Amino acid sequence: MKAVSLFSGCGGFDLGVSKSGVEIIMANDIDHDAAVAYQSIFPQTHFVEKDVRLIKSFPRADILIGCYPCTGFSSAARRRWKNRKDERDLKDNDKNFLFQEFLRAIDSVKPKLIFIENVRGMLSANNGYFLNQQLEGFRSRGFENIEPMILNAADYGVAQTRERVFFVGFHKRLGPVDHKEPRPTFGTATRVHRSLRDVIADLPEWPVGDFFDGPFHGHYLTRNRKRGWDQPSYTIVADGHHVPLHPGGEPMSFVSKDKWRLNGDFNRRLSWRECLHIQGLPERMNAGETLWDKYRVIGNSVPPRLAQRLSSQAIATLRERL
Ligand SMILES: C[S@@+](CC[C@H](N)C(=O)[O-])C[C@H]1O[C@@H](n2cnc3c(N)ncnc32)[C@H](O)[C@@H]1O
Repeated sequence: MKAVSLFSGCGGFDLGVSKSGVEIIMANDIDHDAAVAYQSIFPQTHFVEKDVRLIKSFPRADILIGCYPCTGFSSAARRRWKNRKDERDLKDNDKNFLFQEFLRAIDSVKPKLIFIENVRGMLSANNGYFLNQQLEGFRSRGFENIEPMILNAADYGVAQTRERVFFVGFHKRLGPVDHKEPRPTFGTATRVHRSLRDVIADLPEWPVGDFFDGPFHGHYLTRNRKRGWDQPSYTIVADGHHVPLHPGGEPMSFVSKDKWRLNGDFNRRLSWRECLHIQGLPERMNAGETLWDKYRVIGNSVPPRLAQRLSSQAIATLRERL
């Protein structure tokens, strides 16, 4: 079974899918560091490093994966959008329309199964306009019964609270498919969430050079950034400034609305390697040149474990129907 992957990043989603024996025949990203990271995990895949809008055609495959960027739908971008129109808004706005490239790819890949990941904000952006545009695009191409699913990575064995929207779509020529959200396997009555202790306890306490040690500005201190050792991490983000704190030392304290205080003398952001472990990405991955590249490539990734849980049942169904 073959797949084409767009907006592939370092290949987090593809890693999960490949666990079901799927071969990724083509992948793409505009980001050079993501391209290097991807190829360090999938050396056999034909990787096209360029803006997807410049790719003229895509090969045929059974599955199409597309995690189109989320910048324009993220809450930070929406705040900017609401407050003022600047150049960054235009760029973000532009990004909101990259789903049309995914629709264009459906036309040449002619997949029977599609997977999409995005941020939650996409569901409500512009009063549902973007969501409806996408659903309409899928419907008119034969993917009729697609419902967005909001999944939290922590519920599927990732040591991190990370809520994202996923779409799984089967082409109507496969016949009716009753695809359900994957059942949570962690955070249940019998199994607690995986914790920071489970994934980073054996890493060095103060790995100088591997974490951003710049000041904690006002915005950083508007909320709690430190989870305890026995909890899953806060979301691993792509911008090194906003990466959560290491669980060591004392917890932060609430001061007043949008105001939190650091305590004690052990307060540092998670290192890029800790982020890699929390995301569940392989140690062998070449995450990038600079610290910023590493944080960005790792933070943009879909946790492979979640992708595996989400995709395995759908891929099994596709195999039965082929
Ligand atoms: C959410 S991340 C992808 C996560 C990845 N699919 C994974 O599973 O780990 C979105 C990616 O889209 C890429 N991207 C943004 N604009 C692009 C464009 N115009 N063409 C190709 N890739 C683009 C970004 O560089 C980023 O790596």
